[in-house]
Amino acid sequence: MNQNQPKIKIISSGKYTPEMVISNEDLEKLVDTSNEWIVSRTGILRRRKAVNENTSDMAYQAAMHAINRVHYDKSKIDLIIMATITGDQMTPSTANFVQAKLGLDHEVMSFDINAACTGFVYGLEIASALLQTNRFRAALVIGGEILTKIVDYTDRNTCVLFGDGAGAMIIEPSDDQNDTAYFFNAAKGDMNDSLTVKKFIEMDGKKVYQFAVSAMEQAIHKILNESQLTIDDIDMVIPHQANERIIQSVAKSTGIPISKFMMNLSEYGNTSAASIPLTISEYYDQNETKGKKILLVGFGGGFTWGSAILKL
Ligand code: UT7
Repeated sequence: MNQNQPKIKIISSGKYTPEMVISNEDLEKLVDTSNEWIVSRTGILRRRKAVNENTSDMAYQAAMHAINRVHYDKSKIDLIIMATITGDQMTPSTANFVQAKLGLDHEVMSFDINAACTGFVYGLEIASALLQTNRFRAALVIGGEILTKIVDYTDRNTCVLFGDGAGAMIIEPSDDQNDTAYFFNAAKGDMNDSLTVKKFIEMDGKKVYQFAVSAMEQAIHKILNESQLTIDDIDMVIPHQANERIIQSVAKSTGIPISKFMMNLSEYGNTSAASIPLTISEYYDQNETKGKKILLVGFGGGFTWGSAILKL
């Protein structure tokens, strides 16, 4: 076991999803598809679309949900990491906009990262490592996306999959050994052409699917091995919400019961960097989470992939 794994206290979690719903029936009017095809191939029933919100607005709302959930003193936040591929604009960073919306005018280090759908797991690892320096009191890590602005609504291969949303987590440094967090994150830059965004999302669905199943399986084994835990020690696996069949394949190949995988992709589709934190927030909504152990696992364009084990 690596003795240098960070120790972090998970303080809270929040989410925001826009009101407008795009149903499978709505998409049947735009492209040659059917509700039956979408449900049977992906498990997605509907997804949300931001109409009046920018990415920073949704990220701010998710952050406020996390803050209000535990009546947190937001002036303690001095690190903001925003994972997104659909930031408000090139610069300033979306994290800077969130900082301003939160009214945090003290010294805050705030920046965006891009690791596509694995962005939130990357962001958590970066934040956890920075917290170990004891230079920061609390980190706000957010994943937020408006994917509907980079979806080509004439391409049936992609337009049925993606939606908008945001999720956030607040973490603090800890010196309690029981608060050890475990991370694995990696990229395969030589496989960079299967999922790209120039103007719109373009994807070789089959290649992404195959990569996703093997990468998630490997990332789960790797993090269990690193932490010297078994799946019985884990209360819930929170995977990137891309496709129900991908998650079912991973459950099968790892031998983990499917009931241990939390899923909400039927409601939101694939929200990229937002999908894992949004699902964590819904886990908080449904459960008494204190002391529970969760395993996060994701994959995305790049290719990137990663996993984490956290004690809530
Ligand atoms: O965060 C990462 C983002 N990306 C992903 O997670 C994508 C991973 N890949 C997938 O989820 C699946 O590969 C898809 C859902 C994209 C596709 O499912 P599939 O079972 O791999 O379908 P396929 O690519 O084998 O396509 C089967 C057929 C094709 O028609 P032909 O060539 O067999 O005549 C497609 O043109 O389904 C057709 N098709 C559609 N038909 C109706 C593709 N999209 C649609 C659609 N409606 N929306």
